[in-house]
Amino acid sequence: MVHGHEPKRVLITGGAGFIGSNFLLRMVPRYPSIQFVNLDKLTYAGNLTNLRGIERADNYMFVRGDVADPALVASLFSTHKFTSVVHFAAESHVDRSIMAPLAFTRSNTLGTVTLLEAARQVWAGKAAGARRFLHVSTDEVFGSLGHDSLFTEETPYNPRSPYSASKAAADHFVRAYAHTYKLPVSISNCSNNYGPYQFPEKLIPLVIMRAAHGQPVPVYGQGDNVRDWLHVADHCEALDLILHMGAPGETYLVGGSNECTNLNLVTTLLDLVDEQLGHPKGHSRSLIQFVPDRPGHDFRYAICADHLRQSLGWQPRYTLESGLRQTVAWYLSHMDWLQSVTDRSYMDYFQSQYGMA
Ligand code: NAD
Ligand code: TYD
Repeated sequence: MVHGHEPKRVLITGGAGFIGSNFLLRMVPRYPSIQFVNLDKLTYAGNLTNLRGIERADNYMFVRGDVADPALVASLFSTHKFTSVVHFAAESHVDRSIMAPLAFTRSNTLGTVTLLEAARQVWAGKAAGARRFLHVSTDEVFGSLGHDSLFTEETPYNPRSPYSASKAAADHFVRAYAHTYKLPVSISNCSNNYGPYQFPEKLIPLVIMRAAHGQPVPVYGQGDNVRDWLHVADHCEALDLILHMGAPGETYLVGGSNECTNLNLVTTLLDLVDEQLGHPKGHSRSLIQFVPDRPGHDFRYAICADHLRQSLGWQPRYTLESGLRQTVAWYLSHMDWLQSVTDRSYMDYFQSQYGMA
């Protein structure tokens, strides 16, 4: 069943990161009568140059700040009278969560509760259709699959990394606010995204960047872990639909049925880099370097998105092939962006961890 919500003034959190900036670049020009306020702390992962295409738009403004700061969040709700929240802000990298989990608890869990609390105070007594809190979450909250079966909306939670535990805790708080205070929430749990503006600590931009420089490409373990990849534009389309038409209290799983082992994915990316740089076929495959596995590495994630497809009519536009081709072309023509966002201290740690140049 389709439910209408007409967003008027929307708080976007984490809009300078990978998915948040792709979402704003889509939504700000598409909905000129909606006001968007982007609250972002600008951690290493936040980059305002991602938003050059909309930074001067009349219906967009940026505020630098922390979602876990109750006074700031309350004052933004009071000033802007938000009708809707789309909550992206989070620490998002599993390897960093293994190194330093506390920042994940603060931003992902406490930050989410801080936003829920402000919404609860200000939205009390308002009709559910007039307000919406869309919490952007991950399929990693469900843990790891074996070779068969898919995650569905009914899969029990079983987070296994500090990152996924902090997101799972946030999801539980969102549901608790829906149940206890009748806060009109939607939750989306999406599979691994890829596409423009992804920070090059994540597998796909990391491989493209290192291959373009002829540097070794680290593959954890034997490279047989499986991820279900979705182009960020298809994720943003799903979030647009859920925001406008999702049922209050409902969870939607988002994924494109594009399962691939890490080794197959890396090989495909290296071949695409060779093709687009005019190298001989197979030239970059020798860059693959198997390195010690990530501690607690989840084996497989895979999504059943039937509920989203059937209830809201969503379907992805990109195949994995067309999406990876577009993504490799984007990064190869934005090497200056990659250079400007790389976090030197993390890359030094990463390279020393794997004994790489
Ligand atoms: P990202 O790391 O690229 O961006 C996160 C953004 O949040 C950055 O701009 C950062 O500055 C900001 N931020 C971090 N902590 C903050 C805080 N305390 N206050 C305000 N801003 C803060 O992350 P992403 O890949 O764009 O992911 C966005 C959301 O989508 C996250 O909630 C993540 O869990 C979820 N998600 C990501 C994927 C994926 O594959 N990337 C898949 C499913 C769900
Ligand atoms: P990543 O992009 O970090 O996403 P997530 O851990 O949230 O799924 O990693 C995707 C997969 O690639 C994951 O199985 C870990 C693996 N991986 C590597 O093999 N080498 C790397 O250098 C990185 C960053 C990840």
